[in-house]
Amino acid sequence: MTVSIKTPQEIEALRVAGRLAAQLLEMIGAHVRPGITTDELNDICERHTTEVLGARSAPLGYHGFPKSICTSVNHVVCHGIPNDKPLKRGDIVNIDVTVIKDDYHGDTSAMFYVGEPSIQARRLCETAYQALWVGIRQVRPGTRLGDLGHAIQTYAEARNYSIVREYCGHGIGRQFHEEPQVLHYGIPGTGLTLEPGMVFTIEPMLNAGKRHVKLLADGWTVVTKDHSLSAQWEHMVLVTDDGVEVLTLRDGETPP
Ligand code: MF3
Ligand code: CO
Ligand code: CO
Repeated sequence: MTVSIKTPQEIEALRVAGRLAAQLLEMIGAHVRPGITTDELNDICERHTTEVLGARSAPLGYHGFPKSICTSVNHVVCHGIPNDKPLKRGDIVNIDVTVIKDDYHGDTSAMFYVGEPSIQARRLCETAYQALWVGIRQVRPGTRLGDLGHAIQTYAEARNYSIVREYCGHGIGRQFHEEPQVLHYGIPGTGLTLEPGMVFTIEPMLNAGKRHVKLLADGWTVVTKDHSLSAQWEHMVLVTDDGVEVLTLRDGETPP
């Protein structure tokens, strides 16, 4: 396994890309409301990415992905393809954006409420957000990826949610998906030992029901097998000499 240590120049480029991705996510969040379609959200993101950010959408054409963002509604776990179906009051939607700026990737996602969510949906989304931060707080030199995965898994399962195993976080840089794979479950004391200069995403998917997923016939959309609700948040992090720097923090987002 070859996990790259980013140079100071690469880190600066990843900071820029991460900040742009965070800005894009904030921008699009303001458009989420009943009646808007995920196609419309996609088109707004595509235009903003090219015309305002001077960047490119990484998902578009990535292994044949047909759109510029992923929109995963309710029981969709991840990689939902924007479509012409209007969002309705009570839906929860993950919007996952990835931009390429000066050859470096910025990747982040968040959950958004369409109108008022149910108590159960809100609790799932809030717990998924906390689970992401439980993972982020593990990041420092010397931590092993199994420690990080275990911390997230323990937090989620103690609250009666399951962790999806088939999809994981990833190293990121000039490539969208680099080594290492960052599992959101694991065994303490195992796996890669973190070192300063590593950059990767943490993006746990929590299901209200069982952890099992299935891939739809479109080849992309991942749903919960039992059709239970699923929630995911994603940040991109840098391992620093003494801890972690979150590269995709949104304006006003403070570590919980
Ligand atoms: N942004 C997703 C991630 O967090 C990957 C989407 S790949 C796509 O890794 F092709 F579906 F866009
Ligand atoms: Co990612
Ligand atoms: Co992503």
